[in-house]
Amino acid sequence: MRITTEQNDIDYVLYSEERIRERIKEIAATLTEEYRDKNPVVVCILKGASFFYVDLCRLLRFPIFMDFISVSSYGASAQSSGVVRIVKDMDKNITDRHVLIVEDIIDSGLTLKYLKELFTSRRPASIKTVCFLDKHECHQCEVAADYCGFSIPNRFVVGYGLDYSDFYRNLPYIGVLKPEVYA
Ligand code: IMP
Ligand code: MG
Repeated sequence: MRITTEQNDIDYVLYSEERIRERIKEIAATLTEEYRDKNPVVVCILKGASFFYVDLCRLLRFPIFMDFISVSSYGASAQSSGVVRIVKDMDKNITDRHVLIVEDIIDSGLTLKYLKELFTSRRPASIKTVCFLDKHECHQCEVAADYCGFSIPNRFVVGYGLDYSDFYRNLPYIGVLKPEVYA
């Protein structure tokens, strides 16, 4: 394992804590318009979406049911395997409920596509997705988030919940990882 501190592995900060906070306020306002009378199940995709999920939920001005699902698609690599495995399923039965999936980042789009199909098979009243980051250049399938925080270039980013090999998640900003760290 590398001995350098995590900060030293960051090439540059893409989104500061303040910028993140501002953007989440905007998304929360939009969602409050859409969901105020729907009592949705808001689902966090662990672990990457955890920071975004908590900061977003705390700004939603309507009743929600909070739920969590844990999936794994990457192993310890920076490349998508395309294989999604459920590590921990949700608690709530979502049949006939409005569901909002909260995801950290769309890269190839395979994870979100899989999750949307899985959730749809459980026959919710509606299903939408809010994704914090979107690498629009990298999609390998037809997938789009209904709400998106930031559209980003094809760089490997960490912090604010996002990891490389389970490190860097607790950095408070979104930073671009130096390529030599994962090369
Ligand atoms: P996809 O299936 O290729 O869209 O990959 C989505 C998942 O890969 C996300 O939920 C993340 O866990 C992970 N991922 C993709 N790009 C990055 C990145 O730049 N940093 C950290 N994790 C990433
Ligand atoms: Mg991840």
